[in-house]
Amino acid sequence: MEIPEFFNAQLLSELEALSGTPCYVYDEATIRRQTDIMKKFPAPFGLFPRYAMKACPTRAILALVTGEGIGIDASSGFEIDRALRAGVDPTAISLSTQELPSDFDQWIKKGVKMNACSLSQLRRYGEKFPNTSIGIRFNPGLGSGGTAKTNVGGPSSSFGIWHEKKEEVRAIAAEFSLKIERIHTHIGSGSDPAVWQRTANLSLALVREFETVESLNLGGGYKVARMADEVSTDLLKIGEPVAAALTEFAEETGRKIRLEIEPGTFVVANAGYLVSRVQDVVDTGTGGHQFLKLDSGMTELLRPSLYAAQHPISIIPRGRTVEDMEDYVIVGHCCESGDLVTPAPDDGEKLAFRNLPKTQIGDWCVIGGAGAYCSAMSTKNYNSFPETSEVLRSENGDLNLIRRRQTLDQLLANEI
Ligand code: LLP
Repeated sequence: MEIPEFFNAQLLSELEALSGTPCYVYDEATIRRQTDIMKKFPAPFGLFPRYAMKACPTRAILALVTGEGIGIDASSGFEIDRALRAGVDPTAISLSTQELPSDFDQWIKKGVKMNACSLSQLRRYGEKFPNTSIGIRFNPGLGSGGTAKTNVGGPSSSFGIWHEKKEEVRAIAAEFSLKIERIHTHIGSGSDPAVWQRTANLSLALVREFETVESLNLGGGYKVARMADEVSTDLLKIGEPVAAALTEFAEETGRKIRLEIEPGTFVVANAGYLVSRVQDVVDTGTGGHQFLKLDSGMTELLRPSLYAAQHPISIIPRGRTVEDMEDYVIVGHCCESGDLVTPAPDDGEKLAFRNLPKTQIGDWCVIGGAGAYCSAMSTKNYNSFPETSEVLRSENGDLNLIRRRQTLDQLLANEI
């Protein structure tokens, strides 16, 4: 993706007055476009799309997405609480995690659903809530994510109940009169569409095994192209064979299975930008390395340091036009040589350069693909940097502050 042209000096000055930098900016139109696509995922017997709120759980974003008729995939009790406080309908929330939150007693009465992710959790759930319904998250035996760190399927993953443990699942469900209503699989973020497809078939085979199942949740993980050389997964295309298989299954068995999908990245990744200011331009004098040092870094954008993830970057000069281009390594503001905004794609020792307009201190740096897992995964408060503000750019181009920058008082509030 390209950094959009609306990031011009005028908008950036307005943003600076509104919230200062660094700051995340989310584009409402992009989020609505993505949710519109999601709602068209082919499902012959009904679809319930969910948003994996872990990608970006800010209240205004939750309100925007759920206002489009999209439910929520939560991954902790805290996320459930957060979604409820944002006004999300409890019946639209499901939880997939290893814990059984202590507040689940209240939530289950309101209609929050649970997908058991391990046999012990299924048993604990059965002991507390016998005669209820539940979903089962299976590890289908396959996994695929952009990197090993984001692959959550296959034999080396702890997520979900291993697909061969069907009899144990059946026995626990029978012991506590649990109705297995849903089958759930999620194999990783940025998954290979072919592996995802095989997983969908395996998931359907699991549906066949459990006669009480009414819906199949195919998880998230759909790739979005952040960089020009990446390819997005065509959400509607990969859904087609699944829809055909469901129709065939219904003809054969009479069972009309509803579908759920729960992407996070797909919804918000390319709707979000991290806007920073260049704090220093450093030339080592060795003829090789020129560094741009930002007022943000791994504290706001962990993905490059953690996964060597590549994000599109644009420099917007302040108060001048620039023709000359230079190679720069972009680094963050933390006291870590690993705080790289432009890591080598192979995570190697070598530094990666980006060819950018000749930059001065005070210029703006806009980093794209920063809507998913950036604010959410920000490494809160390292080097005592406060949590960053967030702004939503409305469809008519207005900038609205949706989260204030943390203050030092707030950062220190819980210290004794
Ligand atoms: N469903 C479940 C059960 C999940 O665990 C996840 C993500 C999703 C859905 C949404 O996956 P998505 O559509 O966003 O790929 N921090 C990594 C991604 C970790 C995702 C963890 N689970 C990143 O920055 O790419």
